[in-house]
Amino acid sequence: MRCPDLRLALAAWLCAPALAIGAAEQVRTELAARFQKDLPALPASDYILGGAAFDPALRARLDENANAAQTSGVLEAGRKLFSRKFKNGRSLASCFPNGGKRVAGAYPQYDSRLKRVVTLETAINQCLKANAEPLYDLDDPATLGAVAAYLRSLSDGQKVAVRVPAAAEERFDQGRRLYDSRMGQQNWACASCHVQGAGKRYADIPLSPAIGQGAIATAIRDGKAVTLQARMRECLERMGVAPFAAGSDELNNLEYYLTYLSNGLVMRPNAWRPAR
Ligand code: HEC
Repeated sequence: MRCPDLRLALAAWLCAPALAIGAAEQVRTELAARFQKDLPALPASDYILGGAAFDPALRARLDENANAAQTSGVLEAGRKLFSRKFKNGRSLASCFPNGGKRVAGAYPQYDSRLKRVVTLETAINQCLKANAEPLYDLDDPATLGAVAAYLRSLSDGQKVAVRVPAAAEERFDQGRRLYDSRMGQQNWACASCHVQGAGKRYADIPLSPAIGQGAIATAIRDGKAVTLQARMRECLERMGVAPFAAGSDELNNLEYYLTYLSNGLVMRPNAWRPAR
């Protein structure tokens, strides 16, 4: 152990990051065990169905719309933007290893130089910036949403594999605390609906479990690509909280936490979801 003298409070504080190694995995396995106990009939592979896992009629609509990402034209629009040549002759594809194949599962990532969590959407904009191209609006389904959906489609069938290195434990924990904190006019936490409430109903809508939510991003709704952070912002509004901006550290940490919870699940990116 690097800091044996835990008798001193100061030493305990200084040692906290070192002692926290592996904490993320512990949090994930404890939550997975809780869902197995609370929702024994539901195999973990079905968590990605979201609320439809608890509602046969909604499940049938999900199956009918299985190809929504293609039929809506979102993937084709995203593919064009992804391969579009920049003024310098490069493209978004040149910023990602393997031309973007099988990379989405490793996002969000911790950038140790910036000391920030970088989502797939931020990475797309970082690439544009590095190539002196105008950035996409993080809230725009037609540009950033479509590119992110296409890039994620190149990882269809891969597993979520987010890493939380020791230096990033603090960010993960900030996301976890935000997820578990009661906020806003209704005094709800995200966990009130997606952990304690998973499988129950809110205003007659079946509630998805926290595990799985990170494995379907981006969602296709009304023919548009809706990012995970846009979904989180909608939920913050439901809670009566002024939503944090897309790309803010708060939402990035929340996405880091939430996506890590889905580690090991097979991704089904760009799943159809019903209109609000
Ligand atoms: C009052 C209940 C409630 C609270 C609190 C709540 N949500 Fe939701 N959330 C919903 C409902 C309803 C939906 C749509 C049905 C579903 O997928 O669960 C939803 C959907 C989602 C989805 C999309 C899931 C999918 O599979 O399509 C994500 C991601 C999400 N919420 C994240 C969050 C986060 C993060 C918080 C906290 C900031 C939060 N939610 C707080 C009710 C809630």
